[in-house]
Amino acid sequence: MNDEELFKAVMLVRENAYCEYSGFSVGSALIDDQGELHVGCNVENSAYPEGTCAEANAIGSMIASGGRRIVTIAVAGGHDDLEICTPCGGCRQKIAEFADSDTRILVMNAEGEIEEFRRADLLPRLFHLEH
Ligand code: THU
Repeated sequence: MNDEELFKAVMLVRENAYCEYSGFSVGSALIDDQGELHVGCNVENSAYPEGTCAEANAIGSMIASGGRRIVTIAVAGGHDDLEICTPCGGCRQKIAEFADSDTRILVMNAEGEIEEFRRADLLPRLFHLEH
């Protein structure tokens, strides 16, 4: 699956976002180490801190299916049209848990251009327990 196809999955799942409170819908799609596609959208809650991010839900799907490493993860979001939506701090840590140094983190900007990052770009000097 190429990047364009991956972002088609992002846009499709973004349509299902439950974002009643912020109105900011986010979609995420990732390819795991088994070559499987996993998608997630943000799911907000009346109790605001209980809401979950799109990337977290895509990662949850990957783990539940037996995937363990992210090869490529893509994200896009905005109130209606796309806006800047680089992963939030918490999602950077969640992505880092399952990313390698060469994992591709793709963000579609407001102009529809794909920006590409690596783990170290988004979370330098990350916290990680040895196992
Ligand atoms: N959101 C995500 O889903 N991913 C991010 O990386 C940034 C923020 C969601 C959380 C909340 O539902 C909405 O976007 C506004 O913050």
